[in-house]
Amino acid sequence: MAKKSTVQYVCQTCGAVYPKWQGKCDSCGEWNSITEEKVEQSGFSVLNTKKKGSLIEFVDLSGSTQSYERLKTGIKEIDRVSGGGLVPGSAILVGGDPGIGKSTLLLQIAAGVAQKKDNLECFYISGEEAIDQVRIRAQRLGVASTPVKLASTTEVKDILATLEKANPSIVIIDSIQTMYLEDVESTPGSVSQVRACAYELIKLAKKKGFVLFLVGHVTKQGAIAGPRILEHMVDTVLYFEGERGHHFRILRAVKNRYGATDEIGVFEMQDKGLEQVENPSALFLAERQGNVSGSCVFAGIEGSRPLLVEIQALVSQSGYSAPKRAVVGWDSNRLAMILAVLEARCGYNFSSQDVYLNIAGGLKISEPAADLAVAMAVISSLSNKPLPSDMVIFGEIGLSGEIRAVTQPALRLKEAAKLGFSSAIVPSSFGKEKKLDTMSYYEIGNVHRLINWFN
Ligand code: TYD
Ligand code: MG
Repeated sequence: MAKKSTVQYVCQTCGAVYPKWQGKCDSCGEWNSITEEKVEQSGFSVLNTKKKGSLIEFVDLSGSTQSYERLKTGIKEIDRVSGGGLVPGSAILVGGDPGIGKSTLLLQIAAGVAQKKDNLECFYISGEEAIDQVRIRAQRLGVASTPVKLASTTEVKDILATLEKANPSIVIIDSIQTMYLEDVESTPGSVSQVRACAYELIKLAKKKGFVLFLVGHVTKQGAIAGPRILEHMVDTVLYFEGERGHHFRILRAVKNRYGATDEIGVFEMQDKGLEQVENPSALFLAERQGNVSGSCVFAGIEGSRPLLVEIQALVSQSGYSAPKRAVVGWDSNRLAMILAVLEARCGYNFSSQDVYLNIAGGLKISEPAADLAVAMAVISSLSNKPLPSDMVIFGEIGLSGEIRAVTQPALRLKEAAKLGFSSAIVPSSFGKEKKLDTMSYYEIGNVHRLINWFN
């Protein structure tokens, strides 16, 4: 049957397909995200009936498997986030806001691997920057003499042909939104282009067994731009995040077929590139001032690593009819829940108070274990009474005001003791855990009792 070219309308945010144009995507609710794309079709069914499929051979679950040796980058934080080194043949998507340091990080990875004595070939292909710009960055990072192979192009066909002939260990594509396959009739960055380019590159990575890094732009909402399908196609999705005004950068694994998710790597952006942070807790607490109300140290866990952070709250008389709630680095719905629990179970009233909450250092926390620390920071600010400065807090708060157990309490306390903290507020279920002699404990079962203790 003759091939026919038809048009379809594709949402550039979520990848939903419509037969007609419409202003709003029904699937993701985004406005003005639907654009026209051409597709090649041969009749209704895409199957060629003359050619039969061959039979699949099934095997047992047990049997010999190919063992893969992970490629160490020489940057410990990257190895940790990737689950102990990069797996050959895997595809890794790195997303993050513009200017956060994705290109810097990837150039450092390429240089780190190329510097090793094993003669590994590293390719850095930039579709966004000219050769000179990347060279200037390499000089700044002090890696200009490493044997990284650099090119500036957006033509995926050329890239595929070149890589097919070479023997690469790592290939970096910066970024997938700039890449272009002439066989696909839509502009670079569109859903079809991104999908087709990623598909071809990933296929080659699997075939030749190299590690493929794809840089992905993020949308205003913080998701990787282009189809969600991109996240399904790759093996690992890493987000590089941080606040503009801060030097800290967090590399977070949100999907990893070869390791744990929620593992983080901590970096500091300096004038000579990204430096690894060996002891993040000390860094996040560095600027803490003791003896101020509204400040409280939360003993958290990020991935497999304990991390102490300062939670700051400010409660002030509101000048608005609807009081303001502003949250940086935490879930605002969770703050609303905690304020509601404090009102309903402990008799506080926040209806005429503005509440501001900030996680110091620009870190984003998603653990419910921070509930108790947030509640303490809010109460401390409201009553203008500082908490003991040698104290850490963790515990989840339930709607009836009960304080629930959290994961790995002993690990949290060990980190706190290491940094010189000597007392802790912990959930009452903690009694079963082995205790450290150097710390004193306040085991608390519900918020009401906590307030009594504090006042
Ligand atoms: P870049 O890697 O270009 O970000 P992305 O690729 O995510 O858009 O990082 C650019 C920012 O990092 C820029 O604002 C300058 C800063 N920077 C440093 O502070 N120190 C350095 O050594 C380098 C290379 C960049
Ligand atoms: Mg860049």
